[in-house]
Amino acid sequence: MANDSNRFQAIISHCKEYGFIFPSSEIYDGLQAVYDYGQWGSELKRNIRDYWWNSMTRMHENIVGIDAAIFMHPTIWKASGHVDNFNDPMIDNKDSKKRYRVDHLIEGYAEELVSGGRDSEAAALVKSMETLLASDDFGGLKKLIEDHKIKCPISGTSNWTDIRQFNLMFSTEFGSTVSTEDEDNKVYLRPETAQGIFVNFLNVQKTGRMKIPFGIAQVGKAFRNEIVARQFIFRMREFEQMEMQFFIRPGTQQEWYAYWKNERLQWHKSLGIPAEKFRFHDHVKLAHYADAACDIEFEFPIGFKELEGIHSRTDFDLRQHQEFSKKKMQYFDNDTDPSTGKPYGNYIPYVIETSIGLDRMFLAVMSYAYTEEDLSTPEKKDDRVVLKFPARLAPVKLAILPLTKKDGLPEIARGILEDCRSSFYCFYEEKDTIGKRYRRMDALGTPFCVTVDHQTREDNTVTIRHRDSMEQERVSIDQLKAIVTKAII
Ligand code: GAP
Repeated sequence: MANDSNRFQAIISHCKEYGFIFPSSEIYDGLQAVYDYGQWGSELKRNIRDYWWNSMTRMHENIVGIDAAIFMHPTIWKASGHVDNFNDPMIDNKDSKKRYRVDHLIEGYAEELVSGGRDSEAAALVKSMETLLASDDFGGLKKLIEDHKIKCPISGTSNWTDIRQFNLMFSTEFGSTVSTEDEDNKVYLRPETAQGIFVNFLNVQKTGRMKIPFGIAQVGKAFRNEIVARQFIFRMREFEQMEMQFFIRPGTQQEWYAYWKNERLQWHKSLGIPAEKFRFHDHVKLAHYADAACDIEFEFPIGFKELEGIHSRTDFDLRQHQEFSKKKMQYFDNDTDPSTGKPYGNYIPYVIETSIGLDRMFLAVMSYAYTEEDLSTPEKKDDRVVLKFPARLAPVKLAILPLTKKDGLPEIARGILEDCRSSFYCFYEEKDTIGKRYRRMDALGTPFCVTVDHQTREDNTVTIRHRDSMEQERVSIDQLKAIVTKAII
């Protein structure tokens, strides 16, 4: 049984062993901080993505979705501030030649303090770090590292360089006439999906006849050259974001920021994950575009960490794009301003952004679902690993298992498969004992298993087994589709 400290490791192993996540390019020894989703991981990821997408675009009449390209005009990243500001303060250890993000290095040390029971010291350290980061005081940060004698985990020494800024964007060349000298050919792999929304703001607003307030949602890949990419899929170099920009009237940002904070927390809770697994963390150091920002943190096995960001981005992005592209980014608001009795008129909208990493949400769901259970009785030792996914997110919804491979049972089971598979993901299996097949389905998080046995031939009933309680009941085959559908909508 995994204890708290090796639970994270157990989850990583489970993901690999059961076809959820594989290291990228594994036969070539992998590529750091890049992962591939396997047969069940890709299903789970798609279900999370769909749940988010539907909650944004179907449950809100004033939110529509887009799918912008990853390559964008390079000036976009100058306008957005990413060329100049998308930097992280880094420090190198001269002995190991390893580079660290300063906040990760200090936070790692604070975690060590917490595990040693020195919680208040850890809290004071993180607070000092946040104050120094907020004022870009690199000398102060280096002194903090030296004062606490923070060591490089590889070399074990405190032989540090000065702190410097490194840009996190990946770049590549564009077009056939490639010249590494030629800055004109340089394009970036987008470090956030948000800019695809900003530059399409007027296209969507005009073609969709959208009235403020309205939102544009998008799911897609983003790329960051994370220096210390670690902790499995928590911090990756290639990852997916689910972002929504909500365009509002200037001056209403506080109320919409509060609205989206609450709305996003409710979304997480709607999955049945307990409220105490989440908390808000208000930012002290605001990004260059924000006038308020917070994270929704989730309690991963590695502690409470950022899962989602909610940012009040002002009109920064649209205004910058207006300036750099020389195209107007204004909206004409013909609603009446009660203070003047006249239409609000032209303005550049303000934006509230909700931004969540799909991979990080996957990790949150997996961390919540992963359960090791001791089922031993005085007579027999027994245990199981079960993924208690919310049924609507589970990769497989129904496993259909004929008790034996003969006596017409497989034919009946295949009939159930034919009937149900266009409605939800079904899995058919006839190999091994029924007990082993149940355990394999538990390990994939399948909420329902049905067993077709000899009684089925007589009265058209099957045994349905519930994953979490392991309870079994006898139901008519005709009821199956409705039982599963009720649990997954
Ligand atoms: N458009 C705003 C934005 O990108 P962010 O806080 O940098 O804000 C938003 O990122 C979310 O994207 C994070 O809360 C996290 O879930 C996810 N994310 C960011 N960097 C990531 C990485 N390297 N690997 C996995 N997910 C990441």
